[in-house]
Amino acid sequence: MHKFSNACMKITGRVSGMSEDGLGTIKAKNGIIYVPFSYPSDIVKVKRTKHRFGRKMATDFELLEESSLRQRPGCTHFGRCGGCLWQGLKYGEQLRLKRELFEKATGISAEIKGSPRVWGFRNISNFIVTISGIGLKEYGSPFRVVDLRECPIFSKKTPEYLRSLRGFLAEAGLKPWDLKKKTGEVHYLQVREGKFTGEVMVNLIAHIKPKEKVLEAFRDYFSFADSLYWSIKQDTKDNPRGDTQLVDGEPYIRERIEDVLYLIHPNSFFQTNSYALTLLLKAVEEFADGEEVLDLYSGVGTFGIWLAKKGFWVEGVELNPFAVDMASRNAELNGVNARFSVGRVEETPIGNYDTVIVDPPRKGLKEAAELLVKSGVENVVYVSCNPKAFKLDYENHLSKGYRVEEAVLVDMFPHTPHVEAVVKLRRKS
Ligand SMILES: C[S@@+](CC[C@H](N)C(=O)[O-])C[C@H]1O[C@@H](n2cnc3c(N)ncnc32)[C@H](O)[C@@H]1O
Repeated sequence: MHKFSNACMKITGRVSGMSEDGLGTIKAKNGIIYVPFSYPSDIVKVKRTKHRFGRKMATDFELLEESSLRQRPGCTHFGRCGGCLWQGLKYGEQLRLKRELFEKATGISAEIKGSPRVWGFRNISNFIVTISGIGLKEYGSPFRVVDLRECPIFSKKTPEYLRSLRGFLAEAGLKPWDLKKKTGEVHYLQVREGKFTGEVMVNLIAHIKPKEKVLEAFRDYFSFADSLYWSIKQDTKDNPRGDTQLVDGEPYIRERIEDVLYLIHPNSFFQTNSYALTLLLKAVEEFADGEEVLDLYSGVGTFGIWLAKKGFWVEGVELNPFAVDMASRNAELNGVNARFSVGRVEETPIGNYDTVIVDPPRKGLKEAAELLVKSGVENVVYVSCNPKAFKLDYENHLSKGYRVEEAVLVDMFPHTPHVEAVVKLRRKS
């Protein structure tokens, strides 16, 4: 359990480092203070702190002197909104810090490829709809919501989407969600954009089944959507998931990454930065050797379909049957011969492949890493959004059979401390 206690204090200091989760750090007499939205060389006066997960976090501070690494943020909500911690930092510095933090966590020095676009790059936004506002949660707060007017990292059209939502809620008289009481009728609006196709999907996540009159108004307000869903949420958790019902338009929208098309459905995961995805796919392709590839944790087939289009013979394994179905549809849509099946990676015998791609969830491979070590596979491409989990998998298991040959970082998440790593592992001789 974590402890909360607020303390008034006044400490002035220079930000001398960055934590792995992107907070500026100040060395104080009684230890380190973590300051969100601050950057190296800022001078700040910390006025209030709170203990959280064993760390002293600044909850109120004044910026006395700005670091030369700062830039003017591109969003009026920056500094409160939990979406972006690093918008106030020049993009080149963001990339430098990501490389540095990755090297510190893993010991691997890697080149980093910046996102081709740093505004309007996200292809999905989940706006929480609450009695205190519609938007994203405030940084560090489970209950406070920033009532958004814009979100330039998502789309120029965000104001239009939010205007339609506000108009619709008012006309239909629907109750937004109460985060504390866990009651209400509408919980989220999810909007997805195919950046290269211009297609738009709108999905309202609600706790009620709509009457026909409500659906009529819903269709009118969101007539711009190529695909319109109303999802019914059965639980009270703050996530944008429910049982989907197509209200209007197409069941899927499409995204195009160069010559590959991907279908997107409200219940399927898709890499969130369409522009940097091209770089990620090319990095995976460059590291894949031979002809026969096994795509583990294959999701909707993002890597597998791309590689099959480039002439590799591909099989994929994924736990979620819905994602496997999407991957098979994606294979058909692109006219490629890739086979995806439902299974747990930990229980999948690894046959004779030239390359195995792994893109595990945040917790990493864990026991599945031993299967790779025991396999005869020469070449493994590890895609990771969590350097700590990669390090544990490598040090505890993979290093018994593999060495790191090359690594590249792709910035899928500008204005946040996160980065995607692609590591090529070669079997030790
Ligand atoms: C980081 S996502 C990768 C998705 C995919 N590579 C993509 O880019 O779209 C991780 C995927 O692993 C799947 N997964 C989680 N645990 C698994 C397991 N034990 N065996 C197989 N798949 C699993 C999840 O359902 C999810 O689709």
